[in-house]
Amino acid sequence: MSESLTTVAYLGATLLFILSLGGLSHPETARRGNLYGMIGMAIAVLATVLGPHVTSAGIPWIIGAMVAGGAIGLYAARTVQMTQMPELVALMHSLVGLAAALVGYASYIDPAASSHITGAEKAIHEIEIYVGILIGVITFSGSLIAFGKLSARIGGKPLLLPGRHFLNLAGLLIVIYFGVQFLRAESIQAGMTPLIVMTVIAFLFGIHMVMAIGGADMPVVVSMLNSYSGWAAAATGFMLNNDLLIVTGALVGSSGAILSYIMCRAMNRNFISVIAGGFGTGGGKPAAAKGEAQPAGEVVSVSAVETAELLREAKNVIIVPGYGMAVAQAQHTVYEITQHLREKGVNVRFGIHPVAGRMPGHMNVLLAEAKVPYDIVMEMDEINEDFPDTDVAMVIGANDIVNPSAAEDPTSPIAGMPVLEVWKAKTSIVMKRSMASGYAGVDNPLFYKENNRMLFGDAKKMLDEVLVALKGS
Ligand code: TAP
Repeated sequence: MSESLTTVAYLGATLLFILSLGGLSHPETARRGNLYGMIGMAIAVLATVLGPHVTSAGIPWIIGAMVAGGAIGLYAARTVQMTQMPELVALMHSLVGLAAALVGYASYIDPAASSHITGAEKAIHEIEIYVGILIGVITFSGSLIAFGKLSARIGGKPLLLPGRHFLNLAGLLIVIYFGVQFLRAESIQAGMTPLIVMTVIAFLFGIHMVMAIGGADMPVVVSMLNSYSGWAAAATGFMLNNDLLIVTGALVGSSGAILSYIMCRAMNRNFISVIAGGFGTGGGKPAAAKGEAQPAGEVVSVSAVETAELLREAKNVIIVPGYGMAVAQAQHTVYEITQHLREKGVNVRFGIHPVAGRMPGHMNVLLAEAKVPYDIVMEMDEINEDFPDTDVAMVIGANDIVNPSAAEDPTSPIAGMPVLEVWKAKTSIVMKRSMASGYAGVDNPLFYKENNRMLFGDAKKMLDEVLVALKGS
């Protein structure tokens, strides 16, 4: 394939990637977006493999690597549970980081890559290598720790070393110092020492940075590492003189950064405080420990039959799904209940919090899988004002995203986080198994409100019972 044909193919792939990102922004077009992405990637890979820079001797190696990588990827994607998706994504980012670092080393060691360039051009090439390896290694070790935390192989508690900000600053200064040594190196051998020292520091920094961040912020960290992996890929593109890799890396880098920003805003946290770490323990825990302020009042529990009764008598129902619906895989029963109520003339809609569940769009994906119509699935901002006119707000396995203390208690760790105001409905029903707190480890005064009812039990099992009761009446 000639150079110009490769360029045209790269242009087509770039357009498809942009269309793909556009498609992924809405559930209705997400499938098409994915398809554009797949076609774009196939074109990109083919144009690169058949392009002028790959010799025929290299093709069997590439095919072997693609078969091995493709088989592992296919197996991982088929076996992963939806709730484990952030872990898989974190693991994949670590590979992007590792690949960027290895490409950096390879293009430094390869005499053919730089023997023909001198002066400023050589310096720029070496800066690309140094920065590419730096970002790649931080992404690699940081993503491995994020994977460990998300899969509970490492505890969710933030590790806060004394003087950690100074440690980070010292690391940065050493990296800059060795960067200068690297650029001044007379030979490849001489340049290896500063490169290896920087690699070790970047590796430790990645570990330290993510270890300091609490479990509750891990999804934001994964999105941030996604952004880093994009910039690492862009740096690789500069090293290899590959325009498509630069553009694709920049697309991933900027979309990851935007997503991190959206998540932070939905949790009323700023990016710096997430990076500074120390929030959340990474899992539900029993209600407040001794000495902490505990929400007062009585908890009124209801049965599945009583819940069905409340739903049947309602005119307006808003369902708020959360992480528990995903764990219980209750979305199909939720759909059946919705369909049944709609047939009886009840206005049923869904209220989706931007950080419900454990990854962006988690609830939308599950509801789409269960064939819930898109037009009754509303974003938080679209539906929050409607709760006062709602008869029943049904909370299915959600907790933090409906916690009134975010709005009412300025001392709460989640104060200021926008939440779905389900307590403003005539009756709210919370379905969960116990009184345990949500991901942020914060107590929820909603459970004690006068107009709130608790339906205890596994979401799928209880919803099955509600459906039977609804159909039986
Ligand atoms: P959570 O606050 O974690 O609450 C989920 C609740 O589901 C738990 O309290 C749990 O209570 C219940 N549950 C678990 N398994 C269940 C089952 N089988 N049946 C019924 N209930 C079950 O989840 P949420 O309300 O969706 O909020 C999401 C949290 O994740 C927020 O804190 C958010 O900040 C954080 N987060 C999310 C994201 C994204 S992108 N989604 C990003 C960063 C952080 P029991 O144990 O009592 O059953």
